Amino acid sequence: MTQRIQFPPKFLWGSATSAYQIEGSPLADGAGPSIWQRFVHTPGLVRDGDTGEMACDHYRRMESDVALMSELGMQAYRFSIAWSRVLPEGKGKVNAAGLAFYERLVDALLKNNIQPMVTLYHWDMPAALDDRGGWLNPDIAGWFADYASVVFRKLDDRVKLWATLNEPWVVTDGGYLHGALAPGHKNRFEAPIATHHLMRSHGAAVQAYRAEGKHQIGLVVNIEPKYAASDLPQDIAATARAEAYMNRQYLDPAIFGTYPGELKEIFGEAWPEWPEEDYKLIKQPIDFLGVNYYTRNVTRHDEASWPLRASPVRQKSATYTETGWEVYAQGLTDTLTWVKQRYGDIPLYVTENGAAFFDPPVAENDRLDDPLRVNYLRKHLRAIHSAIDAGVDLRGYFVWSLLDNFEWSLGYSKRFGIVHVDFETQKRTPKASAHFYSKVIASHGDVL
Ligand code: NOJ
Repeated sequence: MTQRIQFPPKFLWGSATSAYQIEGSPLADGAGPSIWQRFVHTPGLVRDGDTGEMACDHYRRMESDVALMSELGMQAYRFSIAWSRVLPEGKGKVNAAGLAFYERLVDALLKNNIQPMVTLYHWDMPAALDDRGGWLNPDIAGWFADYASVVFRKLDDRVKLWATLNEPWVVTDGGYLHGALAPGHKNRFEAPIATHHLMRSHGAAVQAYRAEGKHQIGLVVNIEPKYAASDLPQDIAATARAEAYMNRQYLDPAIFGTYPGELKEIFGEAWPEWPEEDYKLIKQPIDFLGVNYYTRNVTRHDEASWPLRASPVRQKSATYTETGWEVYAQGLTDTLTWVKQRYGDIPLYVTENGAAFFDPPVAENDRLDDPLRVNYLRKHLRAIHSAIDAGVDLRGYFVWSLLDNFEWSLGYSKRFGIVHVDFETQKRTPKASAHFYSKVIASHGDVL
């Protein structure tokens, strides 16, 4: 007899989205423009010229989207707040109408017994602050903490789970080093500075939370475990660099108050020295860590890859998703156990996990079969269970994403949703993966 899979009784099952990717109406009700508003309207930066003007029109369909979550049996929902809806200039005057939207969302969720997890920064910096340097300006830590405090004061009576930043690695790697994401800079000197002020901002927001809030606050990072392609010392060294750059660059300062030594090797003269007091600010006790997991990398030394001198090796017999990511569920178990081993017994959430696959059109009976996504979810949900079995204090899982949405510079070309969105009509159709996930939730994991 196979053993029944059992999740902890209070384990939370949810789904995740972010503001710019789903809301649409980015300038409605007095909101200011964000860096994504600028980026999408700069020709050539986003595939097919797609923008978030309409996205999933969630800003106007919020109530029915919450009803849909409830129908699917969601117990939790992770969403982000658009800073420039709350503070159109990034600081100073509060836009009550912008804040009211999130208050209505939180109330609608709670009415449906769906627990909100709120991310304060999911990549949409107010353009007015970018004009002052954005993450490159040391003052950003104060601006971010002030924005966070406005939101805490309004919503902490109802929101019990808060995250400061979503994937700071992607913010700097995509936004300041390789330029594929807003604000689109390509600068080896800027990337470490952006990293540092992101982390100071995280610390400052956690400090603000201790003064204003009563519940839990954490940080969300993306982790992609790195496995050396061979035993050659140069491959092992390349793997350590890749791993430090992506997986330890943000967790080490947040938890230990230090940066991994490899970063000096990677950035060379562009890696600055920082004052001791900065590390104290960054290293604030946090209540949980959110881990976003999609794939792994098998890594080899590669002189041509800048600035890491490390490249992924394609795995011949593996399945790859539409974003070119290897499906490797064991990597999720490895990631969660690695976080526990390295950083100690801090409560964890899988704050994102999911896959873009090519989906067939919706059939006439309103069905959409997405067997690859179902398979991906099943394997990864079993993988988190193995981590729990191995003693990881995992408190919940959020599938990315509730809806097909705006996949940043890839526009609408990649669909991650468990619910299909017809971007012409805005019709929502739960895919087979949504029905599968509903059964997982209803059985508390038994059907796995
Ligand atoms: C991580 C990001 O947080 C999210 O915005 C993005 O859509 C997914 N990964 C998929 O790439």
